[in-house]
Amino acid sequence: MTPVPPFLPFAKPDIGEAEIAAVVECLRSGWLTTGPRTKEFERLFAELMRPNGQALAVNSATAGLHLALEALGVSSGDEVIVPDYTFTASAEVVHYLGAIPVFVDVDARTLNVTVEGLEAAITPRTKVIMPVHFSGLACDMEGILAMARRHGLAVVDDAAHALPSTRNGCLVGSFDADATVFSFYANKTLSTGEGGMVVTGRSDVATRCGIMRLHGISRDAFARYTSSSPAWHYEVVAPGFKYNLTDIASALGSVQLGRVHEMAERRRVIAEAYMEGFADVPLELPARPASGDLHSWHLFVVRLTDDAPLARDAFIDQMYASGIGCSVHFIPLHRHPYWRDTYGLAPEMFPNAERAYRSAVSLPIYSGMTQEDVDRTIATVRRLLSA
Ligand SMILES: Cc1ncc(COP(=O)(O)O)c(C=O)c1O
Repeated sequence: MTPVPPFLPFAKPDIGEAEIAAVVECLRSGWLTTGPRTKEFERLFAELMRPNGQALAVNSATAGLHLALEALGVSSGDEVIVPDYTFTASAEVVHYLGAIPVFVDVDARTLNVTVEGLEAAITPRTKVIMPVHFSGLACDMEGILAMARRHGLAVVDDAAHALPSTRNGCLVGSFDADATVFSFYANKTLSTGEGGMVVTGRSDVATRCGIMRLHGISRDAFARYTSSSPAWHYEVVAPGFKYNLTDIASALGSVQLGRVHEMAERRRVIAEAYMEGFADVPLELPARPASGDLHSWHLFVVRLTDDAPLARDAFIDQMYASGIGCSVHFIPLHRHPYWRDTYGLAPEMFPNAERAYRSAVSLPIYSGMTQEDVDRTIATVRRLLSA
């Protein structure tokens, strides 16, 4: 009997001994919540992205997006433009503030929003534009920022997928957006289990996010703990949220950040192997970045073409039956009952997102994948699609 290979998951965090040691060291230190390790993680992150700006650690990208919009004054009746082809978090944070998400279709090839699509959705109530760098391919940030500034609008880019991604040599996070928000969720390119980072060059946004991430308290717990003035005293200056990141997570994050380019390079090599391995099968392959630019390859999303011998759902079933996990990014927001019914969304309004959704499959990609895992995935896809 041929041995059955172990199940290959769709995503897996890349945690080494250095990460484990950093967490153990934090556990032994006596300080678990937001403190010196979080300050250090923020310092390293800002140094990478925006040496003249600030990075604020939060406990998810969802929290970071919420904080950024709140800091920009988004409130009841305002409109925020978001892609239809995204995770629900991008729109949900708009709703938290009583504002209205306005959904736009994406480009058929890149699955990113376009300057034209965003501009066509602007109304007198628009306050913020929120591009999403789908799968880790950077959006046209220069074009989006120039257009937004012409209309007097703020830009918060959802960079949950985009570490490290560049466009024209600039890292997502280093453009002059009002805020950029990263995710460190378990399946992301840098993981702290749960976590996120808000990067901003605006000191007013940084100050407000810093206060609102911890109950609207004017002085964080570690500052109080280490201060010479009495530790018990604090002032609540706004009704904030509980969005701070723990030092346990930050200890992990700093080690992961030191490996971010090495891990990205491994993903790039896997993506190249897939591009080559799938060149002659009935798949539309993902868009590449311009030469010299980085795609984070958080996701490797292929689309089955019309001549594929299997439909998408059957293909995923067969992949699972062969021991390989896959996923779908995304089920567009117009297909979710809440967004569809609340905002009267229909597939015809988002033809590119709808078409992409029907054929999209996210294949396993993560830095811990071995060459054997990659070869097995390529061979399985080729076998299923060469019928
Ligand atoms: C595009 C996008 N935005 C935001 C989020 C939310 O990230 P988090 O889980 O860190 O809140 C995700 C999560 O996968 C995402 O895909």
